[in-house]
Amino acid sequence: MGAAGMSLRVVSALLATAAGHAADDSCVGHCGSWAQDCWCNDGCEAHHDCCHDYEAVCGGSSSAADLIKLDDSTARCLDGSAGAYYWREGKDPSLVLVFMEGGGWCYDPANYPTQEGTISDCRSRSQTSLGSSRSWASKRSFDEGMLASDVSTNPVFHNYSLLYMPYCDGTSFAGNVSGTVSGLFFRGLQILEATFVHAMQHTSFARASRVVLSGGSAGGTAVLWHADRIARLLTTRRQLGDVERGKRGRGGSSVEVLALPDAGFFLDLPTWQGVDVWPAQMRSMASVSNSYSSLHAGCLAKYAAEPERCLFPQYYAELIETRTMLVQSLYDSSELWYTLMLDCCAGPCSGYPTCKSGGTERSQMFALRQQHIDAWRPLVNRSGNGVWAIACIEHTLTSAHWTDPLWETPARSGNTIAAAVRRWLDGGAEVRLEDSVEWPANQPCSSAD
Ligand SMILES: *[C@@H]1O[C@H](CO)[C@@H](O)[C@H](O)[C@H]1NC(C)=O
Ligand SMILES: *[C@@H]1O[C@H](CO)[C@@H](O)[C@H](O)[C@H]1NC(C)=O
Ligand SMILES: *[C@@H]1O[C@H](CO)[C@@H](O)[C@H](O)[C@H]1NC(C)=O
Repeated sequence: MGAAGMSLRVVSALLATAAGHAADDSCVGHCGSWAQDCWCNDGCEAHHDCCHDYEAVCGGSSSAADLIKLDDSTARCLDGSAGAYYWREGKDPSLVLVFMEGGGWCYDPANYPTQEGTISDCRSRSQTSLGSSRSWASKRSFDEGMLASDVSTNPVFHNYSLLYMPYCDGTSFAGNVSGTVSGLFFRGLQILEATFVHAMQHTSFARASRVVLSGGSAGGTAVLWHADRIARLLTTRRQLGDVERGKRGRGGSSVEVLALPDAGFFLDLPTWQGVDVWPAQMRSMASVSNSYSSLHAGCLAKYAAEPERCLFPQYYAELIETRTMLVQSLYDSSELWYTLMLDCCAGPCSGYPTCKSGGTERSQMFALRQQHIDAWRPLVNRSGNGVWAIACIEHTLTSAHWTDPLWETPARSGNTIAAAVRRWLDGGAEVRLEDSVEWPANQPCSSAD
């Protein structure tokens, strides 16, 4: 290390100490990871104990996105704080990647959810960054996988603008209560709509000719629920803008909207013992937050008497009009451990004992593969749509495994997620990549489980 680097470090340490903080609580030398007692990555999203100098030390890189608070007073997080989004201008402003953050839902810690239990969990959530914007950093770097802005990490979306939607409503952007419930705000839908309206007025978003809607886990579910609504909102606004600018009838601008949900296709399944736990949690969440009428309009029309079906994409996947590509594990770990509630794994996977051979748990784990393929077939079999589904155990893939050569479908085919998504975007051949083997036969990735 050169003397200059050394002295900078010493000076920073002195400054940190002078400001009343232990030097170990500084982000100097720790951007992207833990310092001694605090966090210097992701704008401190999952932790309140963000190092005091995070923004000054780590937030200033050119790849950082700016936090933009919504001025629409109806768009609020669970605790009543303002909804907000992050914006990072891309090298090509005609391309925008929207990413809806995940992080589960308001979820009663008891297996049999009650409204009180669900609300009580929402309340706990409202005291974290998944329910409040109070601790969100004013700048945040997105350097991993699909969100990165450097071409080597992200050969597909590196020059897109990024509109990142942090998650603070607990309902996958569906809650729609105009007042409060037990002092909590359920305004996911208002945050969703206000975000796009604001971005169209205050960023280059309005000039985009292609918008890719993505998101992971509960954010992936949000993409499936809302893609058509967002597409309609963007198209309508665009036409209004064209009218204002007098472009109508003279080749007005158009916008192509695409959907790329990551690990959002959760199946409507009971536990391995046949108890309806996860689907009941979703219904309780939706009913507490008045979310049903925010779900996919075509689905609600199809199941007018059973809107709860529209929480689960298998019942309306074929009705999604937006061109869609699914990215998902055939053995999604959230489904294994939280939906099926397995106590074991069919082979050696970390943290779990091996299931008894011939037992129900084992067969349920293997059944998940075909259940996914059957459930999403009507969607992926539509022309223009696509799928990348791998036979390894994981939940959300576009961050850690975006260009990971160990994660290819099929194994060693060169079909990383990034390569497959690029082909799908280009629109030529159909991209239907469903691992043909069972777990753990895709060795390069199963050996990482
Ligand atoms: C964006 O990146 C793609 C390659 O990923 C390239 O073909 C295109 O020219 C780039 N556009 C701009 C404006 O940089
Ligand atoms: C949201 O709630 C308002 C009433 O508070 C209602 O007018 C509106 O239609 C709802 N939106 C959706 C999509 O259900
Ligand atoms: C997919 O659609 C084609 C027609 O476009 C049909 O021939 C084929 O059987 C379908 N495949 C599945 C698996 O449903």
